[in-house]
Amino acid sequence: MIDTKKTLIIGNWKMNMTMHEASLYVHKLANAINVRRDVDVVLAPSTFMLQSLGMQVNRRQFKLAAQNLYWRDHGPFTGEVSAAQLRGIADYTLIGHSERRNMFNESDKDTRFKVQAALRNDITPVLCVGETQSERPYGETADVLNDQVLAGLANVTSEEVAKVVIAYEPVWAIGTGLYAKPEDVKSAINVIRHQIEHLYGKKAASEVRVLYGGSIDADNAGSYLQMKEVDGLLIGGSSLKFGQFTEIIKKAHKREIK
Ligand code: PGA
Repeated sequence: MIDTKKTLIIGNWKMNMTMHEASLYVHKLANAINVRRDVDVVLAPSTFMLQSLGMQVNRRQFKLAAQNLYWRDHGPFTGEVSAAQLRGIADYTLIGHSERRNMFNESDKDTRFKVQAALRNDITPVLCVGETQSERPYGETADVLNDQVLAGLANVTSEEVAKVVIAYEPVWAIGTGLYAKPEDVKSAINVIRHQIEHLYGKKAASEVRVLYGGSIDADNAGSYLQMKEVDGLLIGGSSLKFGQFTEIIKKAHKREIK
């Protein structure tokens, strides 16, 4: 398991890069950034690359994340990869990313089982939550966040909860260039922490790391990294661009919280 309260910078590559491109990228990145004890840089490539990249990278410099996993440990589930199979290979896993929820019909029940499976296999779950474009104007954001956090954490004990990471990713901001304003991120994260406090108490609410994700680039990353509410960033498109991603990591290294 990972230390809590480090700044987390997660690059979600989605279904991009070949193995060869990924190796080149990682070697270039390894030469460009320093190892820092207070920042974890996490790469989330396609599942088939995890083992090979794990052998190529210094795990003190980079951690690895799965983009998804299946919650049963083994059995007749064609095409799936389980948390038990990823044990020791992935340090983190995304769970309930909006692309999984919207394109692959992943339900709150799935996220609940997956969070539990990750914890059972020493993989830190990054539970993704966020409102859609149509939920936003009606002010349903808080309800959506409360429901998704409640559902995702339903089987998590108070001993385990500090190991969970939550990523606030408004669906309308993902891959659109429409990033959320820092003040809106602040209110959304406060809703998430209140829900955790309600479920597990004050200490847990302050210990759980909460990230922001949605159209982050090297220009806007700094405004989120300055916020004490934000414990890190989940980056899609910009993590594929070497210059952008390196710049964002450097900003996290120089982080000054206001
Ligand atoms: P984006 O994606 O940075 O391209 O908006 C974020 C994500 O999907 O996690």
